[in-house]
Amino acid sequence: MAIIQWFPGHMHLTQKAITERIKAIDVVIELLDARLPGSSANPLLADLTQGKPALKVLNKQDLADPPRTDAWLAHYNAQPGMRAIALDASMAAPAKALIRACHELAPNRGGMTKPMRVLICGIPNVGKSTLINTLAGKRAAKTGDEAGVTKLEQRIAIAPDFYLYDTPGVLWPRIIVAQSGYHLAASGAVGRNAFDEQEVALELLNTLRQHYPQRLAARYQLTEVAGLSDEQLLEAIGRKRGALQRGQQVNWQKAAELVLDDFRSSALGRITLEAPAEFAQWLAAGQTLDAQRQVKKDAIERDRKIRFKQVKTSKRPDGKKI
Ligand code: G4P
Repeated sequence: MAIIQWFPGHMHLTQKAITERIKAIDVVIELLDARLPGSSANPLLADLTQGKPALKVLNKQDLADPPRTDAWLAHYNAQPGMRAIALDASMAAPAKALIRACHELAPNRGGMTKPMRVLICGIPNVGKSTLINTLAGKRAAKTGDEAGVTKLEQRIAIAPDFYLYDTPGVLWPRIIVAQSGYHLAASGAVGRNAFDEQEVALELLNTLRQHYPQRLAARYQLTEVAGLSDEQLLEAIGRKRGALQRGQQVNWQKAAELVLDDFRSSALGRITLEAPAEFAQWLAAGQTLDAQRQVKKDAIERDRKIRFKQVKTSKRPDGKKI
C-alpha cells in the first residue's frame, strides 16, 4: 500500500499565523470530518497550539454513521482539556452548542472585558467556510488592520463576547498512516490529480465490504459481497451500473468514480470509515514505521557527511588538499 502524500501549500504561512495568534487564544477548535475523524485530524496542531483547551467538532455528521460518531465523541470527551461535539450544515443554530462547549473548556472567559477568543482550524473541504458563514450570520466582521493580526486572518464575532479567529492557508498533516491517505482521498479532501481513483475506490470497497456489506449489496443489487475480492467487487459494480467500454469490458475508471461519488454523496448511506481503537492501532504502526524510516534517513545522511569529510581532507597526488 502506497502512502498518498499531498501538499496543498501555504503551510508555512498557516504555522506562523497560528504561532503568532495562539498566546491570545482561549480554545482551539479543530474541525474534523465525522466520516474519518482520526485521518482528518492534524497531529501538528497540539504542538502548535501549546496544549490550549481543544474542542473537536465532528462536522458533516449527517453523512457519518451515528453509533460511530458517538464512539468518537466519547473518545475525545474522555481526554483531559478536550471536548467534542457533532455538527452538520443543516443545523439551524450551531453556535449554541459550540459556545457552550467553549465555556466549559475555558470557564474563566466571558463578558466584554474577557471575551472568549477561539481559533478555528481544519483541513480543506472539511466544511470550515460553510460553518463560519452560518456562525457569522449578519454579525460577520472581517478585520485585517489590527496590530499583530495577519492580513488574511478573519475575526468573526459570533456573540458580543465571543470571537472566532479563522486561520489563513491550510495546515495539512504529513500522512504516515496509509489508510488515512485513502480515507482523505475518498472523502474529497485531496486534490483530484493527487491520487489514483481506482486504487482509492478499491481500498474503499475493502473497508465497506468489512463494515457495511449490506449497503453494498443493496445499492448495487449484488447477491454476494463477502466472497468477492476488491477487484471482483469493483468489476461487479461496474457491470451492474453500466460502466462499460467497447467489447462489454468494465471501464474501471468509470466504475471507480461511481463508487467514490456514491460514498461522497451518501448514496451508500451514512458511513464512517474508522473507529477510535482501530485508528489508534494504525497510528501506532505508522509512527513505528516512520521512526524506522527516519533512523535510516539519518544513517544515510551521517554516512554522506563522513564521506564528504574524507574527500575534503584527503590529499591530491601533488600533495595539495582537495
Ligand atoms: P472548507 O472551507 O473547509 O474547505 O469547506 P467548505 O465549507 O467549502 O465545504 C466543502 C464542501 O462540504 C461543500 O460542498 C459544502 O457544501 C460541504 N459541507 C460543508 N458542511 C457540510 C455538512 O455538515 N454536511 C454535508 N453533507 N456537507 C457539508 P461542495 O460540494 O464542495 O460545494 P456545494 O455543493 O456546497 O456548492
